[in-house]
Amino acid sequence: MTDGTGAPGGARGPESDAEALRGRALAALLAARERTALLTDSVDDHELTAQHSPLMSPLVWDLAHIGNQEEQWLLRAVGGLDALRPEIDGLYDAFEHPRASRPSLPLLPPAEARVYAAEVRGRALDILGGAPLHGGGRPLERAGFVFGMVAQHEQQHDETMLITHQLRSGPPVLDAPEPPRPPDAVTLPSEVLVEGGPFTMGTSTEPWALDNERPAHRREVAAFHIDTAPVTCGAYERFVEDGGYGDPRWWAPEGWAMVREHGLSAPLFWRREAGQWLRRRFGVTEPVPAGEPVLHVSWYEADAYARWAGRRLPTEAEWEKAARHDPASGRSRRYPWGDEDPSPVHANLGQRHLRPAPAGAYPAGRAPSGAGQLIGDVWEWTSSDFLPYPGFVAFPYREYSEVFFGPAHKVLRGGSFAVDRVACRGTFRNWDLPVRRQIFSGFRTARDA
Ligand SMILES: [Fe+2]
Repeated sequence: MTDGTGAPGGARGPESDAEALRGRALAALLAARERTALLTDSVDDHELTAQHSPLMSPLVWDLAHIGNQEEQWLLRAVGGLDALRPEIDGLYDAFEHPRASRPSLPLLPPAEARVYAAEVRGRALDILGGAPLHGGGRPLERAGFVFGMVAQHEQQHDETMLITHQLRSGPPVLDAPEPPRPPDAVTLPSEVLVEGGPFTMGTSTEPWALDNERPAHRREVAAFHIDTAPVTCGAYERFVEDGGYGDPRWWAPEGWAMVREHGLSAPLFWRREAGQWLRRRFGVTEPVPAGEPVLHVSWYEADAYARWAGRRLPTEAEWEKAARHDPASGRSRRYPWGDEDPSPVHANLGQRHLRPAPAGAYPAGRAPSGAGQLIGDVWEWTSSDFLPYPGFVAFPYREYSEVFFGPAHKVLRGGSFAVDRVACRGTFRNWDLPVRRQIFSGFRTARDA
């Protein structure tokens, strides 16, 4: 089955396709490294090696881990080279050492970590220059998949490192322009209707899609309504002020236990002062912005809000249908706005802005359903467990997705302002524990039609 979304580049010869893919891979790798450098050069060595939260690695661990993964996949698996520093593999294996224990490891100091990552990168670019990126060859290299995978991996760590920046205390070190204001927020309907019927979920053709996004398959979805934009801080504040965190009626039992155990009363980084809700964002304390999608809420908080509002979280299939299904053609788009790669008019991605844009922004990024801001701004919790699609095959390794399948993890969709476009698609699936709140997570709500 196909979802009709061909590889970028269209119907050209294999040579020009290979060169286009090489250029795409090079651009993605360079963009990721530029962001990594910004996130690690903006703090001193002491802050690079410190653990800012037991939930996170020291930034210097991320830096060398990025280089180590790149070495394992591009230099060793593709290039057939021997390990540059075999003794460090274990230190940077995310499965061997939980985050809380990483500061006590004999990690490479910042200068050495930078040299190591740069050395790996130099050799990786040589390998990219000579790699056959045409349709044949090994599955790992086909259409440049492994280069795309490594660029996505680095960008995912760039998002993780931005979370570490958000958790660190001290004065701000990052700066970015404000996101665009919405042109017509007041005239937007609060929700849109998505008609019932089948649609194509997932992809079999997107060249850099990861194993859990595959294969494309038909899904039957009953008619539903879904919010036009993610739930805003202003709407969420009404839940808080209505005593939402003190009323077990709204909470799943495990969520209620979490609220009680940790004494939660608002999203992470919010605090009330002199009758006003404030929040801390990358070292700055500011009034909670009423019109902006709410951030740093756990799945349990999203679920409780939805119940309080007389609604529910969308299923993952509902989210994807609202984002990709084009009723006019019957096919699923790569992105809500079409098959075109994201640009700054479509979505708030890539840490261009260090916050979500107000609800109603990015009219050019809306889906045929009328829903907007599905890509970028905030990761959106869905009601669904992280499960394989029918016909799933683990690739290129089980630890990427397969070991996380099951009821312990909930799916998030759409990416945040902190994720780069190479690591975000209409089919992209993220997952996390329902208690997690330090991530750039928000949500929208739905109801049966
Ligand atoms: Fe990693």
